[in-house]
Amino acid sequence: MVSIPGRRAKLRHRLPGALLLAVLLTACANEQSTPAAKEPSDPNDPDAVFSAEARAALAALSPATLPAPPPDISNRLADDPKAAAFGQTLFFDASFSGKLLDGDNDGSVNALGQKGESGKVACAGCHLPASGFIDTRTIQQQTSLAAGWGKRRAPSLLDVGQSKLLMWDGRRDAMYNQIFGVIESPVEMNGSRLFAARQVFAEHRAGYEELFGSMPPLDDTSRFPALDAELTGCQKLDATNACPQPMRGAPGDGAEYDGMKPEDQRAVTQVIVNVGKALGAYERLLTCGPSRFDQWVHGDASALTKSEQRGAALFVGTGHCTDCHGGPYFSDEKFHNVGLKPGTVATVFLDLNDHGAATAMPLLRADALNVQGAFSDGDDGRIPTDDAPEFEGGFRTPKLRCASLRPSFMHTGQLRDLASVVAFFDRGGDLAGYPGTNEIKPLGLTDRDRADLVAFLEALAGPGPNAELLAPP
Ligand code: HEC
Ligand code: HEC
Repeated sequence: MVSIPGRRAKLRHRLPGALLLAVLLTACANEQSTPAAKEPSDPNDPDAVFSAEARAALAALSPATLPAPPPDISNRLADDPKAAAFGQTLFFDASFSGKLLDGDNDGSVNALGQKGESGKVACAGCHLPASGFIDTRTIQQQTSLAAGWGKRRAPSLLDVGQSKLLMWDGRRDAMYNQIFGVIESPVEMNGSRLFAARQVFAEHRAGYEELFGSMPPLDDTSRFPALDAELTGCQKLDATNACPQPMRGAPGDGAEYDGMKPEDQRAVTQVIVNVGKALGAYERLLTCGPSRFDQWVHGDASALTKSEQRGAALFVGTGHCTDCHGGPYFSDEKFHNVGLKPGTVATVFLDLNDHGAATAMPLLRADALNVQGAFSDGDDGRIPTDDAPEFEGGFRTPKLRCASLRPSFMHTGQLRDLASVVAFFDRGGDLAGYPGTNEIKPLGLTDRDRADLVAFLEALAGPGPNAELLAPP
């Protein structure tokens, strides 16, 4: 049984008068039936049955207080409120973005503007605050259309502060370096660190200098060449949605960036790293928050319907979901191959050969911007030193609080509702999935079991962040 005494003391603080752990405690005495089930159970809507192991597993998913993000020693400003406020401003700022390149940018509500326009892509353009920081804007609601079409779905940023490795494949290990991928991707912002650093100088100098001290003289074009939004990044995508030329203003451009002195290149990179540290401080504040499931674990027996309770029992029992979706945020933060078959997303895209973490880990280890490098404020050993078999075709286990807000699921967005996700795990994944070995075994669930699991997943929705975090400060 769960470690009641310590938990109880804490809970009394938070939930005065609540039936403390009544659900867990009462039924503890009788493992096979639910609390005081005097009336015969409705055969069409039976009471949930919990083993002692199931109760302990459910308690582990819902500690008395949901833990705050663990310290991020790579970012000395991670918990600085001023940095978070500056990061919040930047999150909504589209002025770091270059030209929109794809013909689907037709100015409709699903696109961020017209092809050829610049200054249209902000973080908030794909992580929509009002939608739980996911993309509910792009047509199809699977992968995002920004400067061009991406190949993976934008994950929610709620509770992202719990994760040390980022991205579906773990390619990034800190918020401060994650943003380079956004700024210097031809299909996301289609900008560059040189262009973005000059924009910070022009538009946010005071806010930046208050946190990080004086900026380099980015208006000195003899040291930091001028590069406008028209010319930065990529001019034209090829048939695979990649940029055939180097990104202008980024390392390897053979032009403005490469022509700068090494110390000036470093100064430019440092500006973007600092911007990323401020953004990281903001992102750490974003959380889904406690759900009806938590109320139920902590004693409110009526907070979950019978179906949701049966789903809870399945989630930690027959469903084996907690093998990977364990802990208070429902993720082990590890990589797994679940045998997903590449599917067509956003009407035309089919990413056939995604090796997931197996491709990402060598890139992360070699990245000069990683937490072991000079731009980090500390390294806590978060980069895996050895490759594991499940890296091959492996993706990071998504957190599941607030998952029911997502308009599509899996790293591609190819499954359109939670019922499809549960059916996917029930059948043991797909035949001929991504490269690697599928870890999922068929579950043999009934129709009702599957519906119960969906109901349980929906009961994990929380209130989301405070309203003042959902718009520029
Ligand atoms: C074009 C849409 C788009 C824009 C704009 C965008 N993102 Fe993302 N974001 C994504 C996608 C897609 C992923 C996942 C990519 C992958 O795993 O390969 C992602 C991943 C992330 C992650 C990792 C989350 C996790 O759980 O692994 C963070 C953090 C993040 N973005 C923050 C930002 C910030 C900060 C900005 C602005 C600087 C931004 N994003 C702009 C689409 C976008
Ligand atoms: C072996 C580890 C593992 C097990 C077991 C597992 N999952 Fe997952 N789950 C994952 C991974 C990894 C993904 C992401 C896969 C991808 O995007 O390619 C995922 C994706 C999901 C998603 C989609 C979330 C999103 O944002 O796209 C849901 C919902 C989910 N799992 C629920 C469940 C449920 C319910 C069970 C039990 C029936 C379960 N999972 C069992 C690892 C696992």
